[in-house]
Amino acid sequence: MPKSSSPVPDIPLLRTAWDYADERLGLGEVMALAAKKTVPQHKHSFWYYWGGISLFFFLVQCVTGVLLLVYYRPGPEAYESVRAITYDIEFGWLVRSAHSWSANLMVFSIFVHMFSVFFMKAYRKPREFGWWSGLGLLGLAMIFGFSGYLLPMDELAFFATKVGLEIPATMPVVGEFIGNMVRGGPDVNANTIQRFFALHVVILPALFIPLLMFHLWLVQRHGNAVPPGEEKKPASERRSIPFFPNFMAKDLAMWLLALNVLALLASLYPWQLGPEADPLAPAPVGIHPEWYFMSQFQVLKVLGEWFPGLTGEILGLAIFTGGGLLWALIPLFDTGSRFEQRARIATWIGFFALAAIAITTIWGYAALE
Ligand code: HEM
Repeated sequence: MPKSSSPVPDIPLLRTAWDYADERLGLGEVMALAAKKTVPQHKHSFWYYWGGISLFFFLVQCVTGVLLLVYYRPGPEAYESVRAITYDIEFGWLVRSAHSWSANLMVFSIFVHMFSVFFMKAYRKPREFGWWSGLGLLGLAMIFGFSGYLLPMDELAFFATKVGLEIPATMPVVGEFIGNMVRGGPDVNANTIQRFFALHVVILPALFIPLLMFHLWLVQRHGNAVPPGEEKKPASERRSIPFFPNFMAKDLAMWLLALNVLALLASLYPWQLGPEADPLAPAPVGIHPEWYFMSQFQVLKVLGEWFPGLTGEILGLAIFTGGGLLWALIPLFDTGSRFEQRARIATWIGFFALAAIAITTIWGYAALE
């Protein structure tokens, strides 16, 4: 790459360092690629930031998670180690609080990102694999949350996990086997923590990171989708800005905002630790999962009241499987603007899904004893 196109300031030492790396790594080619990439600008551009915001919170999870690993001990000493992190170790409370808040903000951002790509119809050809890999990431992020929830082994974590694991156990034929395998036996105990820990720090990252790379590679390959309303405009009226450095600067500004929100929440509302779980004690009132499982929790609870016994639970599982499949297959149904009728149906499915999740979640909280 000629020296004139080097992105570093004209300082001899920096120039020499850039040329050294460029000759060996071909950095100039990467820069040329980045210079070509543009991001569309229109009234819905704000939603393009949410994938990046989800990525930011995932990076925070990696950094704070590794710091927690320094003192966390899975197994019978789990509660004591989290107590020490929270009360004895300097800034332990802050790292733990940031990890827990950021986990919630990450799932929240992924939901915003998913619904915004849905309503922009960014799942249409050629971005179907972006949609499917994204759904995989959402599923893994929720399992990250579920497995992390148990790790402090306080009262709420213990009983919520116990109740949560009773759901897959209702699946016909394989349910009991799966339940016992995940728990490490019929009860939630130190074996379960060990398994959840392995899942949380080894298995899930090993699945999540390559899937995320694939997802980001697809974004790089296809660029950002333009919503149908903008697509109809003549080319002369469409606007876009270079990704580097213009959009990247805006992306980074969003990361800074996200960091501020996280810092405020983590420091003003430190993540709490309840009393140590006592497996022999009766479940305390108001046991509930994290907010992103509240919708399913409430649906199962209500179906269980309406159809006592296994029927309610199996019906619930059938609704979630059917709904999830429909959601995953939407790119095969709403294939393009030539099918106006299908496009409208897909949009209504999106509104319905959003409303159903919001209503059942609020209902779930309102119904807590
Ligand atoms: C940790 C989880 C995720 C991360 C870090 C992530 C990251 C990103 C990033 C950085 C972009 C490009 C910027 C943007 O359009 O926002 C993007 C685009 C995209 N994502 Fe995700 N994503 C995640 C989850 C999801 C989920 C759950 C879905 C949907 C089920 C999804 C579907 C898509 C699609 C279809 C695009 C292309 C959008 C377009 O072309 O405008 N992603 N993602």
